[in-house]
Amino acid sequence: MIRLAVQSKGRLNEESLKLLKDAGIEVDDTKRKFIGKASGFPLELLYLRDDDIPGVVADGSADIGIVGLNEIAETGADVEVIRKLGFGKCRLSLAIPKSMEYHGLEWFEGKSIATSYPSILHCFLYSKGISSDIREIRGSVEIAPAAGIADSIFDIVSSGGTLVSNGLKEVETVFESSGV
Ligand code: PRP
Ligand code: ZN
Repeated sequence: MIRLAVQSKGRLNEESLKLLKDAGIEVDDTKRKFIGKASGFPLELLYLRDDDIPGVVADGSADIGIVGLNEIAETGADVEVIRKLGFGKCRLSLAIPKSMEYHGLEWFEGKSIATSYPSILHCFLYSKGISSDIREIRGSVEIAPAAGIADSIFDIVSSGGTLVSNGLKEVETVFESSGV
């Protein structure tokens, strides 16, 4: 029996299940059930939060996983990337309120940045010699500037719609990600 860890909900969930379906593997994906079985193939699915997938693969609880490269980079989990899947493309970017002038990374010196990816952000800022106040929040990161939680954000951008809806503009792309 092979154990495959996939995202329980979110953007990679549908694509992951479609990949299996296209390979002729039918899985029971009843919502709220966290272990699924495939019919006609010795496969068991673990539905997990995406940030837990790299660790579960690294410790052997799952044999293989489908997850964004961003989560592997953030967790630093000891896993091997064996295939890029061509879906779930996105980027991790810095964004600031759209009314602010921006001339370069020095903007972030001494500023606060809300993010769910503190490790990737810290490495990036350190490599550029910029010192900022990184504030970790787990979701709805784009709310941070308007809510007074932080001056700026570092988060996933796909279509860019969430940034626009929250009055933000993307000023630096730091990391390109996709499903692996
Ligand atoms: C993700 C990400 C961005 C948004 C980007 O959030 O954190 O907020 O999608 O997508 P877009 O550029 O196409 O608008 P998600 O919907 O997963 O919610 P969460 O961050 O609150 O978990
Ligand atoms: Zn978000």
